[in-house]
Amino acid sequence: MNRRDFHRALLMGAVTHAFGPTLLRGTTPPALRINGDRLNANLARLSEFGKNPQGGVSRVAYTDADRQGREFVMQLMRAARLEVSMDYAGNVSGRRAGSVPGLKPIMFGSHIDSVPEGGNYDGTVGSLAAIEVAQALAEAGTTTRHPLEVIVFQNEEGGKQGSRMISGEFTPANLELVNASGRNIRDGVRFLGGDPDRIAQVRRNPGDIAAYLELHIEQGGTLERDDIQIGEVEGIVGIKWWSVDVTGFANHAGTTPMDQRRDALLAASRFVDMVHRQARALTGRHVATVGQIQAFPGARNVIPGRVTTSLEIRDLETAKMDQLFEIIRKECEAIGSASGTEFKFEQAYNSSPSMMDDRVRTLIRDSARELGLSNRPMPSGAGHDAQSISMLAPAGMIFIPSVGGISHAPKEFSHPHDIVNGANVLLHALLKADAASWVNT
Ligand code: HGY
Ligand code: MN
Ligand code: MN
Repeated sequence: MNRRDFHRALLMGAVTHAFGPTLLRGTTPPALRINGDRLNANLARLSEFGKNPQGGVSRVAYTDADRQGREFVMQLMRAARLEVSMDYAGNVSGRRAGSVPGLKPIMFGSHIDSVPEGGNYDGTVGSLAAIEVAQALAEAGTTTRHPLEVIVFQNEEGGKQGSRMISGEFTPANLELVNASGRNIRDGVRFLGGDPDRIAQVRRNPGDIAAYLELHIEQGGTLERDDIQIGEVEGIVGIKWWSVDVTGFANHAGTTPMDQRRDALLAASRFVDMVHRQARALTGRHVATVGQIQAFPGARNVIPGRVTTSLEIRDLETAKMDQLFEIIRKECEAIGSASGTEFKFEQAYNSSPSMMDDRVRTLIRDSARELGLSNRPMPSGAGHDAQSISMLAPAGMIFIPSVGGISHAPKEFSHPHDIVNGANVLLHALLKADAASWVNT
C-alpha cells in the first residue's frame, strides 16, 4: 500500500488494526464529525432558560429555570434518539444500546445548572456536546460496542451533588445542605421529580461504568493565552468548604467606646484579609476564598454581635489544603483574642482531589492530534462531576479555551469553533474508548 492509498484507507476505516487496540475498529468512520451549527444553536436556545439582564444565566439548581432547562435537554435527547430517564436523585440520562451484549455503558456528559449570575458555557458545553455526539452517531448509523449513557448531573454548582449520589460519597446528612435556590437538597430533589428517600438506590459500583468522558470550558485563561485548542486534564483539585461563625457582642453603636467593642464584623474583616495573605505566603498552586459574609443583627446603629462567613480551600493535594487550614485556624485564635471574639469552623463539604486515568488521557490526546488540534496536559482548578465518577470508572476530561479566563460570571465566553473542536475530540475519544481492549467491563 503506498502512502496515498494508506491515507485513503485510513479515512475509510480500513487500516485501523495496524495501530493496535486503541484505534477505531469495525465500521466506525474516522471522518465522522459532529454538527457544529446545531450544537451552537442549541447552546443559544438553552441560554434562554434563566437568562439574566447581564447576558448570562441564573439557572441555579432546584429553581424553575433549572427545571425548564432540564425539560429542554430531555427534548434534545429524544431528538438524538436517546432513551430518556431520570434517576431518584434527579440526574437525567439518555441511553443508546451497544452491539456487544453484556458490556457496561460508556458515560459522558456534564451539568446545566449555574451559579447565581453565571455564564452560558459552564457545564452546558459538555452536556449539549454529549447529546450532539449521540445524535451524530445516530445519523451516521454507527452503533458502538458499548451502550452509551449521556448524563446531565443535577446540582453540580452546589457541590456536585448528583454525581456524589452516584459515587456513594453523598451521606443522608447532606440532605440538609441549602443551595443558592434557598431549598435544601431533600426538597430540591423532590422539586426535580426525584425521591430523596431513595437516593441510596442511585449509587453505582466500581465497574458499573466502562469509562467516563466530560468536555468542559477551561474557566481559566491559560489555553487562550498560549493559543492551545485542547486541554487534556491531568487532575481535578480537591475542594473543602467550612461554615465559619464569629461571635462577638452586639451593643449600642453610639454609647460603646471604641476600645470596649467586641465587633464580630471587624474580626471577620481581619479574617478575610488574613486568609488572602496566608494563602499567598504559602508556596504552591492552592487557592483560598471567603465568598459569603453576613452580619447580625445587621443594623447601621448596632455593633455586629455575630457574623456568619465561609472559607473555601482548593488544591491538588489534600495535605496542602490541611496545612493551609491549620495556619488559618491558628491565625483566627490570634484575631479572636485581640478583638474579644471567637471563631468556630464547621466543615460543610469535602471533595477529594482526583487524577484522571492515564489511558483515557491518551485517547483524548490522540483524538486531538488526529483532528489536527494543538493540545497539552493541564490541571483543573474548578471542580467537576468527573471527580466523583472517577471513583467508579476510568475518567478523562477535555478542556477548551475560555475567552479572557472569565467564568462563573455573565461574560463567560468560548468561541463557537472551539466548542466544535471540543465536541469532535469528545466524539473521537469516545469511539476510541469503545474500541479499546481495556474498556470492556
Ligand atoms: O465550583 C466549582 O469549581 C465548580 O464550577 N462547581
Ligand atoms: Mn462546570
Ligand atoms: Mn461552575
